[in-house]
Amino acid sequence: MKNGLEDVIAAETQLSDVDGEAGRLIIRGVSLDQLVANSSYEGVAALLLDGLMERSVGEAQLRAWLAKARIRVFDHVRAADASLLALPPVDAMRALIARLPDGEDFDTVLNLLAAPAVFLPAVLRLQRSQKPIAPDASLPQAADILRMLTGKSPTREQSAALDAYLVTISDHGLNASTFASRVIASTQAGLTSSVLAALSALKGPLHGGAPGPVLDMLDAIGTAENAYTWLGEALDRGERLMGFGHRIYRVRDPRADALKGALKPLMASGQVNRARGELAEAVEAAALAILKARKPNRPLDVNVEFYTALLLEALGFPRKAFTGVFAIGRTVGWLAHAREQALDGRLIRPRSVYTGPLPAAA
Ligand code: ACO
Repeated sequence: MKNGLEDVIAAETQLSDVDGEAGRLIIRGVSLDQLVANSSYEGVAALLLDGLMERSVGEAQLRAWLAKARIRVFDHVRAADASLLALPPVDAMRALIARLPDGEDFDTVLNLLAAPAVFLPAVLRLQRSQKPIAPDASLPQAADILRMLTGKSPTREQSAALDAYLVTISDHGLNASTFASRVIASTQAGLTSSVLAALSALKGPLHGGAPGPVLDMLDAIGTAENAYTWLGEALDRGERLMGFGHRIYRVRDPRADALKGALKPLMASGQVNRARGELAEAVEAAALAILKARKPNRPLDVNVEFYTALLLEALGFPRKAFTGVFAIGRTVGWLAHAREQALDGRLIRPRSVYTGPLPAAA
């Protein structure tokens, strides 16, 4: 038995492959760097869903259907009452998604792809006592998310950066939330249930809940000069450095570089706080040096969450919403895996080893 199912193979998939030794991510036969360079969010969504639905899905068609789905699900924003809005954004978003009908058909897929993109900006606005902004069907999903968040047309660099983020995080092997999605799919509960389970797994700080704490860490460190000492003291207290380490990668997470690349046009056009960028670089360098010295037997490098934090902050998302933005991008991976599992048709039902007491002999 392996704690945490480490190295256990629990599914066969055509969707994505994570090579932790080489630091390589392949999605449906295309390497991540190629995908980020050449594909939009809608393009990668079409790629992931290809062959898994009752009809074939092309990028342009999916963009149009998704835009209509955003308008459809916007109606559900009305259900956001005071008690729902008192929840953290990711929990409020989950509560709204839970109101969508369950199903296995393509309309359910479209609703689920659109729902997080519409609900998160609406929840954030309502929590600031602002009116939610209705979707604009003429826009691609990334640009519309930013417009629904701020009420302004995003710049070209901002739309491109969010689009690159959504592509980068669209799928990533059998991570905890994707496994949760497949387990639910194997019971034939429906795709909404799969997404709800996956979202619940994602929000933990050891999975998709880390980027907010990355910014907390940068704030606490404050200056580049303070980085090495602060990080050393955090490790002395037994804390983990947020944005570093990964269960599979033994080298740099390729998604970190994809996001660093996506940040460049924003930086070059002055749309990222320069001091924040410089502090992050200093903290990354100090953390890599100190982790190498303190954990010589465990290669620890930067993971996707470190640059996620910088990118989403630069795009104007509050840190409490970062996990929700992650969910917007990852939902397509959850859905593709759920469909793949459903088509496989076999219930996931592993066994456990009982280590408790035995009944007293009669
Ligand atoms: N900081 C300091 N030490 C670390 C870190 C870290 N970020 N990550 C792992 N280690 C150390 C552990 O303390 C342990 O050391 P030890 O052997 O001396 O006790 C060793 O590395 C191995 O740790 P494990 O717990 O076996 O590693 P695991 O595979 O379970 O951890 C995880 C992966 C959970 C991501 C971990 O690296 C971590 O907690 N990172 C910080 C949180 C974070 O960034 N999460 C986002 C992950 S990316 C994503 O899911 C989208």
